[in-house]
Amino acid sequence: MEKHQKWTQPEPLWRANQSLPTFKALKEDTATEIAIVGGGITGVTTAYLLAKAGKKVTLIESDVLLNGTTGHTTAKVTAQHGLIYHELIKHFGEEEASLYYQAQMSALDSIEEWINKYQIDCDWVKEDAYLFSTSQKGAHKLEKEYEAYQALGIPGGTDNSLPFDIETTKSLSMKNQARFHPLKYLTALVEEFTKMGGEIYEHTKAIDVKEKDRIEVETGNGYTVACEKLISCSHFPFYDGKGLYFSRMYADRSYVIAIEPEKNVPEGMYLSIDEPKRSIRTADYNGTSLLLIGGESHKTGQGVDTSFHYNALEEFAAETFGVKKKWFQWSAQDLTTLDKVPYIGPITRNNERVFIATGFRKWGMTNGTLAAKLISAYVLGEKSLFHDLFKPSRFKSDPSMKQFISQNFDVATHLVDGKLELVADRPKSLKSGEGMVVQWKGERAGAYRDEEGKLHVLDTTCTHMGCEVEWNSGDHTWDCPCHGSRFSYDGAVVEGPAKQPLMKIAIEEGHEVPPHIEESDQNDQPDTL
Ligand code: FES
Repeated sequence: MEKHQKWTQPEPLWRANQSLPTFKALKEDTATEIAIVGGGITGVTTAYLLAKAGKKVTLIESDVLLNGTTGHTTAKVTAQHGLIYHELIKHFGEEEASLYYQAQMSALDSIEEWINKYQIDCDWVKEDAYLFSTSQKGAHKLEKEYEAYQALGIPGGTDNSLPFDIETTKSLSMKNQARFHPLKYLTALVEEFTKMGGEIYEHTKAIDVKEKDRIEVETGNGYTVACEKLISCSHFPFYDGKGLYFSRMYADRSYVIAIEPEKNVPEGMYLSIDEPKRSIRTADYNGTSLLLIGGESHKTGQGVDTSFHYNALEEFAAETFGVKKKWFQWSAQDLTTLDKVPYIGPITRNNERVFIATGFRKWGMTNGTLAAKLISAYVLGEKSLFHDLFKPSRFKSDPSMKQFISQNFDVATHLVDGKLELVADRPKSLKSGEGMVVQWKGERAGAYRDEEGKLHVLDTTCTHMGCEVEWNSGDHTWDCPCHGSRFSYDGAVVEGPAKQPLMKIAIEEGHEVPPHIEESDQNDQPDTL
């Protein structure tokens, strides 16, 4: 096999050949009972539940439905969220750790119930999930995790081997978990929602909120959605509402490849706990059994060249399973809260009109569904057993504060380091499709040359709080290492918390030069717009 072959399709498997409903952008002011911002699993499921309860619901999405983190998941539907239960018992106690497990399993059960109810053909497969270690230290951690499973009554067990060719020191199973095709499933929920009269607007970006007698959501196209209650399901909260969410979460990017393996595909879903972490599951694609391999997680804006991450996954796939054909590759961004438990509930302690769901730490299928159930219960005035554990205003001093200080120290470091960084790269030319940090008139700038040869130069100062963005060569975006904002090559916001685009640096017509070239070099390589 040729090393690092070209990918057949640089997009998530889930969107390939999947026909999705489309919706128009909002073209006038509108009023509704419940406004939902964000068309991923949380937004769609919440919309479905509240419409089913008789509410008038309007969902707006800045791009198209199901194309954010939900469209880029590995779609494991499981309560096995890595190593978590031993830690939850330590920080929260057994009772709340048990509630966490029950909450996740209740989400899995709901998904299964709706699949059965609507006969949704979405490749739903029940199978066990496994964590595995490759070091003695990792094996010790799995033993501790297993003790937690036993204390909480979680069905599972340990073993010393795996059904595929990798040296392992221990594995820990969790019984009766599941996997599916998330877009097939959610397309059916979208249909149920619209059948009940629910409204959806795509290409309608919520940019601000005014909390008056009614709540008014202002959109980028200049219209307003007035509502009684607002639910933010936009991954990173598009509206902070004084909740200071940007300082209470950090963003990770991770990568997935889908390959056709040479060896037999093992049953089950797997996740290694030692570095480098690897996530493994199978998926059907038009009758071909593919293997999804994920990993290479790093804080947003702090990775090396992103093609390195895909190559590392590909090498692991080739060594472990053999690669007959490579099909898809994609990356995702995930948010983690200070204590690893998502924020689901009122945006601030006494706010009964604005709700938020975020910080799913890569486990969006169960957490997103759980969030939909919990927020619907808030809106309908019902008390849930799980509300307190997930509410954003919970206070757990120990782990939170330690993490808070280290995360914010990290942010402060990037703020200062980014500004002082000496830009060393000064190659003679930027090829089409390439971007990099360069010097422009002595200042740090970001340059990208598009496929038509046009150069786009931007101020690399993040418009959220002033950190310096870095080039992501895999996704062709500018990513901020501080709170995870992402911008397209022309500066437009792809993902918040930033709301404003990066500032464009004007290049005079006829005088454009590759920005890395000093004044004295300018005659060497004239460039045209
Ligand atoms: Fe906060 Fe960039 S995302 S400074």
